Amino acid sequence: MKKIILTGDRPTGKLHIGHFIGSISSRIALQNSGDYDKLFIMIADAQALTDNYGNVQKVRDNILNVALDYLACGLDPNKCCFFIQSMVPALTEITFYFSNLVTLARLKRNPTVKEEIKLRGFEESIPVGFLTYPISQAADIGAFGTTIVPVGEDQRPMIEQAREIFRSFNSTYGEVFAIPEAIIPKTKSQARLVGTDGKGKMSKSLGNCIYLSDEPEVIKQKIMSIYTDPNHIKVSDPGKIEGNVAFEYLEAFATDESFKKYLPEYKNLDELKAHYRKGGLGDVKVKLFLNNVLQELLQPIREKRKILEKNPEKVYEILFKCSKEANLIAEETLRKMKQAMGINYQDYFAKK
Ligand code: TRP
Repeated sequence: MKKIILTGDRPTGKLHIGHFIGSISSRIALQNSGDYDKLFIMIADAQALTDNYGNVQKVRDNILNVALDYLACGLDPNKCCFFIQSMVPALTEITFYFSNLVTLARLKRNPTVKEEIKLRGFEESIPVGFLTYPISQAADIGAFGTTIVPVGEDQRPMIEQAREIFRSFNSTYGEVFAIPEAIIPKTKSQARLVGTDGKGKMSKSLGNCIYLSDEPEVIKQKIMSIYTDPNHIKVSDPGKIEGNVAFEYLEAFATDESFKKYLPEYKNLDELKAHYRKGGLGDVKVKLFLNNVLQELLQPIREKRKILEKNPEKVYEILFKCSKEANLIAEETLRKMKQAMGINYQDYFAKK
């Protein structure tokens, strides 16, 4: 079976270090492994509009931001295809036929959508487009014959629902869709990087992000004020690692190499943790080390992004070219669907 990978992001803001560790870094590893037939990365602008319908400008501006972040991190348009969801109109038609295969009760049970509805305060006024976006996400996945979907933990229910839709389509009309597998990051910090305030997931709406494009002094200032252990007041106090954001970030980003370079008096994170727990290690020292680690990671990304920013036309050219290619593939899937359903009237009349 062909290995077709598809994943995507909603363009609602610049990407942050949570995106980097949770998905971008594994996409780059996949890209560089070359172990796939096709790798698609979709900028899900139409899905972003389901809860930003009144703010098209924000979504439009962030298409460029997200694409710049992808390129700056090293995703290579010659190896993967990044495209804009709304430039693939066949997706909406696929969504329309999929809608018949899903009940309202099933949509209301999707735990991620439930959580998002609560967060957004929709209560009883849920836009239909928002409630049904898992159907459109199934179309995104199905349209390209996707077999693997690398996503964060919160997206697991979407992939589950997509699988149900494909099974239902295949058994009702005939085999058109492969049943894809989700790939979810293994470690906790990868699956869900905590925000700088320690209160929840890093997310733009909570204002607790370190962005890939932040300037060095902004990064430093954010790191110096991250949430650690409120009871670790004097350097000599024993400190807590659990829930301590500095240590969560070190867990995600520091390597033994980082210790050699910036904190050679410790061999690795275990030693640093042990000292912190025992007492005698101040927060400032830990934060300055974290600052070195993150500055090293983000500097080349920021610099590459600044060069790319000067030429947005080139970025759009990449997106448009790939969107056209994606559209042809999605149209072909739609044709197969219609054939399976027996509503391929054009084929029928062309023969007469
Ligand atoms: N829902 C995803 C998110 O919020 C974005 C997305 C849209 C997606 N379509 C997709 C992810 C298809 C994987 C596959 O991050």
